[in-house]
Amino acid sequence: MGSEALLKPPEPPPDEIYRIVLHAQAFYVLDAALELDLFERLKTPKTAGELAGELGTDPALTETVCDALAALGLLKKRGGAYENSALASAYLTEGSPYCMKNLLRLMRSSLRDRWPRLLDALRGKPVGAGGRDPRLFTLAVAESALAGGLHGVVEVLREIEDLKRARRLLDLGGGHGLYSVALVKLFPQLHAYVLDLPEVLEVAREIVSRYGGDVIDRVHFVPADFTRDDIGSGYDVVLASHSLYGYRERLAEILRKVHAALNGGGLFISNHAHKSQGLRASLFELQIAMARRGFSLFSVGELMSRLREAGFVVEDVAVVGGAWPSTIVVARKPLQ
Ligand SMILES: C[S@@+](CC[C@H](N)C(=O)[O-])C[C@H]1O[C@@H](n2cnc3c(N)ncnc32)[C@H](O)[C@@H]1O
Repeated sequence: MGSEALLKPPEPPPDEIYRIVLHAQAFYVLDAALELDLFERLKTPKTAGELAGELGTDPALTETVCDALAALGLLKKRGGAYENSALASAYLTEGSPYCMKNLLRLMRSSLRDRWPRLLDALRGKPVGAGGRDPRLFTLAVAESALAGGLHGVVEVLREIEDLKRARRLLDLGGGHGLYSVALVKLFPQLHAYVLDLPEVLEVAREIVSRYGGDVIDRVHFVPADFTRDDIGSGYDVVLASHSLYGYRERLAEILRKVHAALNGGGLFISNHAHKSQGLRASLFELQIAMARRGFSLFSVGELMSRLREAGFVVEDVAVVGGAWPSTIVVARKPLQ
C-alpha cells in the first residue's frame, strides 16, 4: 500500500489544506505590517533597506515580509522598491473612505486572544469575552458596512416599492447609522430614526455628520435599549440589520414589539447572516459562541416562523453575496 502512494498522485490534491495553513501564517505578516504602520510608510515607494531604516527593523526580514505582502497583493514591487497596491491603498491606509483600520484592530485582537483558545472552549473551559469598547466596535462595524456590506443590501432595498413611498423608517440597532444615511439619500421623502444604545449613538452622530452631507436633517437618533424601552410607533418600515444576533431566545418578543411599532401595511426588513450559511457564518457564530456559551445564529426558517407567529406575512427572501454574505427577509404587517 505504501509503495503505491509513491507513484500515484494524491486525489484529491492537498492544495486546500496548504491554503488554510498559509493564510494563518499570512495573517501574522499582515498583523506585523499593520503594527508597524508599514502601509502608511509605503504610500510612496521605498526599498526594503530604506523601510527597515525608518522602522528600525531587520533589513533582510523586512525584505522577505515585503515580498510576502507583494505575493498577497498588498504591495507592488518595481525596480527594487515597494509601494502600496490598490488593495492596500483602499483598505489599509488612513484617509481612504474605505479604510478598515478599526475593523482590523478588532479582528486582530480576536485572532490573537480568542481564537487560539478554541480548544479550551470546546472542552468546556470558559473563554473570557473581554469588555467591548463601544466606540471601537461602532467604528469597526461602520467600516465593514462601507467596505461592501452596505452596498449589496442597499441594492436590494432600492427596488422595494414601499420604500419609495415610506415616510418614517426605524433603523433598529442601527449602530453607526450609515444604512439610514444611504436610505434617506436614495429616498428623498424618507426620515430615518437610528435606534441604538446611548453610548453607540454618540459615535453614530460623528459618523453621520461625516457621511450625511445634505440629508443629515432627515436622520434622527433614538437612544434606547430595544429589549427594555419603548421603540416608538407610526413607522412605515422597520429595518433590523445585523442587530438581532444575540436575541435568538427573545426573537418572538422583539418581533411582536416591532409589529406594534409599525403602521398597518408596514414592512419589516431583516438583514442577517444565518445558521448553516457557509464558512463565514459558521466562523462568525463560533467566534461569539466561544465567549458566550449557548450562543447560536438563528436560521432563515426560524426567523420566518417567529415572524408569522408575531402576525407578519413573509413576502420576500433575498441572498446578498460579497465578503459578508447575508439574507434579507421582507415581511409585512397586514392592514386592519
Ligand atoms: C453589528 S451592529 C449592526 C449595526 C448596523 N445595523 C449594521 O448593519 O451595520 C449591532 C448593533 O445593534 C445594537 N444593539 C444590540 N442590542 C441592542 C439593544 N438591546 N438595544 C439597542 N441596540 C442594540 C448594537 O449596539 C449595535 O450597534
